[in-house]
Amino acid sequence: MLLVLLSLAALCWGAMPPEPTIQCGSEPGLSPEWMVRHALTPGDLRDLRVEPIKSSVAVEDYSILMNISWILRADASIRLLKATKICVTGKSQKQTYSCVRCNYTEAFQTQTRPSGGKWMFSYVGFPVELNTRYFIGAHNIPNANMNEDGPSLAVNFTSPGCLDRIMKYKKKCIEAGSLWDPNITACKKSENTVEVNFTTSPLGNRYMALIQNSTVIGTSYVSEKELTRTSVVVQVTGESEGAVVQLTPYFRTCGNDCIRRRGTVVRCPHTGVPFPQDQSRSMLSGWLPLLLLALLVAIWVLAGGIYLTRRHERIKKTSFSATILLPPIKVLVVYPSEICFHHTVCYFTRFLQNHCRSEVILEKWQKKKIAEMGPVQWLTTQKAAADKVIFLLSNDGNTACDGTCSNSEGGPHENSQDLFPLAFNLFCSDLRSQTHLHKYVVVYFREVDIKDDYSALSVCPTYHLMKDAPAFCKELLHAEQHVSVGRRLQACHYSCSSL
Ligand SMILES: *[C@@H]1O[C@H](CO)[C@@H](O)[C@H](O)[C@H]1NC(C)=O
Ligand SMILES: *[C@@H]1O[C@H](CO)[C@@H](O)[C@H](O)[C@H]1NC(C)=O
Ligand SMILES: *[C@@H]1O[C@H](CO)[C@@H](O)[C@H](O)[C@H]1NC(C)=O
Ligand SMILES: *[C@@H]1O[C@H](CO)[C@@H](O)[C@H](O)[C@H]1NC(C)=O
Ligand SMILES: *[C@@H]1O[C@H](CO)[C@@H](O)[C@H](O)[C@H]1NC(C)=O
Ligand SMILES: *[C@@H]1O[C@H](CO)[C@@H](O)[C@H](O)[C@H]1NC(C)=O
Repeated sequence: MLLVLLSLAALCWGAMPPEPTIQCGSEPGLSPEWMVRHALTPGDLRDLRVEPIKSSVAVEDYSILMNISWILRADASIRLLKATKICVTGKSQKQTYSCVRCNYTEAFQTQTRPSGGKWMFSYVGFPVELNTRYFIGAHNIPNANMNEDGPSLAVNFTSPGCLDRIMKYKKKCIEAGSLWDPNITACKKSENTVEVNFTTSPLGNRYMALIQNSTVIGTSYVSEKELTRTSVVVQVTGESEGAVVQLTPYFRTCGNDCIRRRGTVVRCPHTGVPFPQDQSRSMLSGWLPLLLLALLVAIWVLAGGIYLTRRHERIKKTSFSATILLPPIKVLVVYPSEICFHHTVCYFTRFLQNHCRSEVILEKWQKKKIAEMGPVQWLTTQKAAADKVIFLLSNDGNTACDGTCSNSEGGPHENSQDLFPLAFNLFCSDLRSQTHLHKYVVVYFREVDIKDDYSALSVCPTYHLMKDAPAFCKELLHAEQHVSVGRRLQACHYSCSSL
């Protein structure tokens, strides 16, 4: 019996040679086949595809890998094919390059699979970083001879940010809150309050809820250590029904660049203040006493409303009249190119415009002018025109750098010229002089890391937003009242001269 089986197996073995599979390993340099001349070489690949997949064996941050699959061309040259080499170039802040070589375990006997269909293989490897452009090239081995153009196939692949359904599992994204589900609900409680409920995250304990329709109409900060469903009432200054509620978390590792969540403000199911619809319903279905009561309530609400509006206007007048009449403060904001433009620069710009009566000058909005004038001339002119120059610092926040501010033209990946080092060098001499120093402010959103190269900035007044927001605004609005910056001048001399 056993003998019969064995001989049967041997027969099958002889008739059907094992199908080729691949064995892949890193091969950074040239393949040894380059060194010898080949009279005949295999053709190119028929197809090459790349998709990111979540690795089942997640090793720290290498959890997202490329699944690179390729199809071999069904022609006679397949008999010569020994291996396929794949090289990947990644371009984000730094460039990466690596290659693998996949040897076929057997020589190809047939142009297609014995079971039918083309030969197809896939290799899983090459960790995928966020928001990175990859260029994936593949060629067959033995390759064409030294001075001949070898057949090869290449594809481009741009990895998405943290909001992607696969990329969200990257460690950096998880830390920025990609897996957090705040389940935001918000409703208009009255004409000038909105109730926002959300579930907090174990990643941090500080949040900002912001209500906006076309402009920001209200903000409120929440501190919550416990992991709960929390509720906050936000004062608003405009129509809130249908407005957007944006929840900004401040987590430990991402600071200001964490992933923001959005929701919509709906009408609360039952509110203290009846809405016109509720009123008409009660009038239609109610009896006379109810009608009278509703009327009374309506009058009371109307009176209350008028009183509140008057009072509100009065408060507004008394607290803002001093500032509203003054011209805006002109602010030039310079930031390093690695900063997440949308999350940090746009947010900061909006903050300046909405809360600090500032007119903001940004490199990104004046591309054409910079091209005409040249960056040095542009910076010099803007510095002279500006009341304040703000160096905006932040950790490199690659997290979901999507979208742009409304004023900006061009896409988010458009290469922005990094004016920061230039501005720093150009303005550095001012940092040494007490008469000019008052013009400069450093703002950062996270405990950083003023890089050694820029240590001269440490003489400038430094603000940590949003913590120091009131003090910061005050500094801007009372540009003359700058004090006690001279005591740190020594540090400036030291670090500027070391440039
Ligand atoms: C593939 O074949 C080449 C040449 O025979 C050899 O140098 C290399 O080690 C092989 N790679 C793997 C992963 O088996
Ligand atoms: C990689 O992609 C190929 C082709 O789409 C597929 O057949 C294979 O199952 C994928 N591998 C993994 C690990 O998902
Ligand atoms: C990949 O992108 C580069 C740069 O934009 C372009 O030159 C090249 O043609 C693209 N290649 C493919 C295969 O799409
Ligand atoms: C979100 O919150 C609402 C109201 O608290 C609840 O009914 C719903 O089940 C929650 N959804 C999820 C996905 O947790
Ligand atoms: C928020 O939670 C409170 C308390 O659980 C609840 O009464 C209220 O209806 C909720 N509001 C919203 C907008 O979900
Ligand atoms: C925003 O609020 C203003 C008044 O506060 C209102 O007139 C406008 O319609 C609102 N816009 C949107 C898009 O809801």
